[in-house]
Amino acid sequence: MRLLDAPDPGFTSGCVLVPTMGALHAGHAALIARARSIADQRRARVVATVFVNPTQFNESTDFERYPRTLREDLALCERAGADAVFAPASHVVYPPDTTIPTPLLPKVATLPGLEDAHRPGHFAGVCQVVSRLFDLTSPGVGVFGEKDWQQLQVIRAMTIAQFRPIDIVPAETVREPDGLAMSSRNRLLDPESRERAAGIHRALARAAAQRSGPAEAERVLAESLADAGILPEYAVVRDARTLLPPKAAHDGPCRALVAARVGGVRLIDNVPWQPT
Ligand code: PAF
Repeated sequence: MRLLDAPDPGFTSGCVLVPTMGALHAGHAALIARARSIADQRRARVVATVFVNPTQFNESTDFERYPRTLREDLALCERAGADAVFAPASHVVYPPDTTIPTPLLPKVATLPGLEDAHRPGHFAGVCQVVSRLFDLTSPGVGVFGEKDWQQLQVIRAMTIAQFRPIDIVPAETVREPDGLAMSSRNRLLDPESRERAAGIHRALARAAAQRSGPAEAERVLAESLADAGILPEYAVVRDARTLLPPKAAHDGPCRALVAARVGGVRLIDNVPWQPT
């Protein structure tokens, strides 16, 4: 496996790209394994990127305490089947004296009541860095995790709006045995918060089983989170693609989505929701 710290278009062009911020875990290994199977069909390479992007953090303390574990990350990428890891220094992504544009944000990035309400500017940073990583590596496919459901829709919409010939492929969320979605932030949870955090998935599972209507599912979600001692930033049912609130008679695929701080750590998760 190669470690790239500068763009190498001859090696990465047409690759299956797995952008990450490092601190990799089994969820990322599953993204890379998914990328491997797509790449084998296309006779392409798998390239994972490791870059903690400062422009998508709302709080500098959050950026500073984000775990950085490059040595372990490289070992995980190799085991999971990556051909290369692109781990650029900040000046490669954001060269001094050069303005890296922030792409036009798709509508799905700024909908009221979701991420933008709690992390203003976050998706501007995500779109900026993903666009930049696409420019630096020229992939044919980008693999993104479903745990960040809104991010997945934002990147999909941005890629289409930019007419990029890149397929955006989702990969399912990988969970701990008690249901907690794997996340690099989980390692910041103290033991009491870690136990409580499992309540997010319990609440989502109960809401998914309540299929009479979105309002009823949201009520179950709120109640279950309260039972677990979790006060969410949002806990909603939305259309899976547009992320707009579904109409009462809506029959398309939806998603139940939660963001909550548990023991000071911000966690997000979601599950499919479909009315009967
Ligand atoms: O999902 C993430 O880890 C990040 O938002 C991403 C897509 C790698 C951009 O920094």
